[in-house]
Amino acid sequence: MSDEELRNMISMTLTCRIDQRENCSDKMEQFLQRCFYQSGHYNSEEGFSELDRKLTEKEAGKLPNRLFYLSIPPNIFVDVVRSASRTASSPSGWTRFIVEKPFGRDYESSGELTRSLKMYLAEEQIFRIDHYLGKELVENLSVLRFSNLVFQPLWSRDYIRNVQLIFSEDFGTEGRGGYFDNYGIIRDIMQNHLLQILALFAMETPVSLAAEDIRNEKVKVLRSMRRLKLEDVVVGQYKGHTRGGKSFPAYVDDPTVPSGSVTPTFAAAALFIDNARWDGVPFLMKAGKALHTRRAEIRVQFRRVPGNLYRGNVGTDLDMATNELVLRVQPDEAIYLKINNKVPGLGMRLDSSNLNLFYSERYQREIPDAYERLLLDAIEGERRLFIRSDELDAAWAIFTPVLKELEDKRVAPELYPYGSRGPVGAHYLAANYNVRWGDISSDGSF
Ligand code: BG6
Repeated sequence: MSDEELRNMISMTLTCRIDQRENCSDKMEQFLQRCFYQSGHYNSEEGFSELDRKLTEKEAGKLPNRLFYLSIPPNIFVDVVRSASRTASSPSGWTRFIVEKPFGRDYESSGELTRSLKMYLAEEQIFRIDHYLGKELVENLSVLRFSNLVFQPLWSRDYIRNVQLIFSEDFGTEGRGGYFDNYGIIRDIMQNHLLQILALFAMETPVSLAAEDIRNEKVKVLRSMRRLKLEDVVVGQYKGHTRGGKSFPAYVDDPTVPSGSVTPTFAAAALFIDNARWDGVPFLMKAGKALHTRRAEIRVQFRRVPGNLYRGNVGTDLDMATNELVLRVQPDEAIYLKINNKVPGLGMRLDSSNLNLFYSERYQREIPDAYERLLLDAIEGERRLFIRSDELDAAWAIFTPVLKELEDKRVAPELYPYGSRGPVGAHYLAANYNVRWGDISSDGSF
C-alpha cells in the first residue's frame, strides 16, 4: 500500500471529537498527514530496523513514544515482540505493546505466552486488550454501583438471587471459522468478555480508582471463583436452517471448519464465587453465535419480597414479583429496573413496569467505540481497562479444566437452528439453580 492508499482507507472511518467541531477537518488532515505505511515480515529484525529508521526520521528529534498494536495471529506474537522491542523501541520515551486475544488456549499456554513476552517486555509495557472493558455501559457499571446509595447495600447475596451475563450475535462465524474452530465460544467470549464484566460487577470497593487498586480487587474475585464443572455447562452448535425461503448455513458448512467439528458456538454456564458477599449466588453466563438477536446485557435478579402483601395480586407467576436490574451493553445502551406497581384504576391489580434510562433519549451524543477509549487509554498510560497477567492466570484457572474435559471427551454440542434462541439445555441448566433466563419471552419460549 502507498501512504496515500493508507490515508484514504483511514479517512473512511476517521472521526473527530473536539469541542469546536469547525476545526475537525483541519485536525483530521493533520492527523492523516502523519500516517505512513511500512511493509515488512513479522519475524524479520531487518524489517523492524527499517521501521525504526522511518520512525526516527518522522519523529524529527521530538521525544519519541512508541505504541505497537498487535492485531495479528497469536502464533507470531512473540516473534513480533522480539523484533520490535529489540530494534524499534523508543530510544528515550516509552514503548508499549497492545496485544489482542487469544492470550493462549488454556492456563498453561497463556502462562507460556506471558513468560515469552516478559523476556522482552516489562509487565507495564504490555496492554492486553479486552474491548468489552471499553464499552460505555461496562465503564458505567462501577459508577452505578459505587456512587448510588440505593444499589450499594443491595449488592450481595442478601438481596441478589442471581446474576446473568448474556451475549448473543445474530450471525455465525462467517469467514472466521478457521480461527474460531480452535477456540470455541467459551474461549472467544466467556473466559474474557463476560468474565471481565463479572469481575467488575462482583469486586469489593477498590481503595481508589487507580488501575492497580481496581485490578487487585478483580483478581481477588477471580481467585475466589470455583472452577467450572462439566455438569454446570451446556454447549451448543448451530445447524443450517431455512426461514422465509432463505437458507442459513450450519457452522460445519463453513469450508474452514473441519467436518465433524464439535466446537461449541453456544455455551451456557453456572459460576460461583466462594466469598462472603456472593456465597451461593449463581452467576449464569450465556454466549452464542447465530442466535435470533444481537445483544449483550447484564441482568440482576433480586430476591422475592419476604411476606409480600400483594402476592396474590401478581398472578401465579412469582417471578413477576421480583425486581430485576438490566444493564444493556448493546445495542441501544440502557439501564432499566423492573418494579411492581399498581395498574391505575379501581381495584388492586399489580403490573411489572420499567424505570428506564435509555441513553439515546438522555444523551444526544454519539457513544465512542470501545477501541477509541482503549487506544486513548494506552497512549495515556492508563491501565485500568487492560488485563494484568495475574488476572489472566486466574481467569484461565476457572475455565481450563472444563475446556480440557469437553475436548478430551469430545462432548457433542446440542444442535440449534441458525437464528433460534439456542439450545433448550440452557433452560434446564438455569432451572437447576431455580433461575429463569431474563431475556426469554415471558411465556418461557426459546
Ligand atoms: C470478539 C470475538 O472478541 O468480540 C468475536 O472474537 C465477537 O467473535 C466480537 O464477534 C463481538 O464484539 P462486539 O463488540 O461486536 O460485541
